[in-house]
Amino acid sequence: MQLVRLIYSSQLKPSTQPDELAHIHHEALSHNPKKGITGTLVFGDDQFIQYIEGGRSEVNDLYQMIGRDPRHEKISLIDFSEITEREFVDWHMKLVLLSEANPKVLRFSDNGLFEPSRMSAETALQFLRQFK
Ligand SMILES: Cc1cc2nc3c(=O)[nH]c(=O)nc-3n(C[C@H](O)[C@H](O)[C@H](O)COP(=O)(O)O)c2cc1C
Repeated sequence: MQLVRLIYSSQLKPSTQPDELAHIHHEALSHNPKKGITGTLVFGDDQFIQYIEGGRSEVNDLYQMIGRDPRHEKISLIDFSEITEREFVDWHMKLVLLSEANPKVLRFSDNGLFEPSRMSAETALQFLRQFK
C-alpha cells in the first residue's frame, strides 16, 4: 500500500460552536480506524491544523470529505507527500487543544502566535511531531 501524509490548515466558521470539536473528534474516531487513517488534529485560536496519514486513496477521500465540511473554512493544503512509515501509529486522530498545551509548543512561530496558514511544510511537520 502506498502510504501518504497530508497536512492542511483551516479556520472554524464563526457560526460553528466550539463544542462541535467534540463531535468532529467523535466522527474521526468512528471512521478513521476502518480506513486505516492515523494522525492528529490541533485546534487553537479558532484555527485547525490537521495531519492525516494512511493509504493514498483513503487520505484523498478523507481530505475531500473534510473539505466539504461546513463547520470550517479557508482550507489550505500545506503538504501532501509519500512516506515510508507512519508518525502517529497509535492515534486514529489525536485531538490537541492548544489552550491546554505547553506554550513551548509554539517555539516554531516567530511571533509566538498560532498561525498554521502561514506555516511552511517543514515547520508544520516539526510543529506536529511534538504531539506524537
Ligand atoms: C477540522 C475537521 C477535521 C475532521 N477530521 C475528520 C477525520 O479525521 N476523520 C473523519 O472521518 N471525519 C473528520 N471530520 C468530519 C468529516 O468532515 C465529516 O463530517 C464526518 O466524517 C461525517 O461523519 P458521518 O458520516 O458519521 O456524519 C473532520 C471535520 C473537520 C471540520
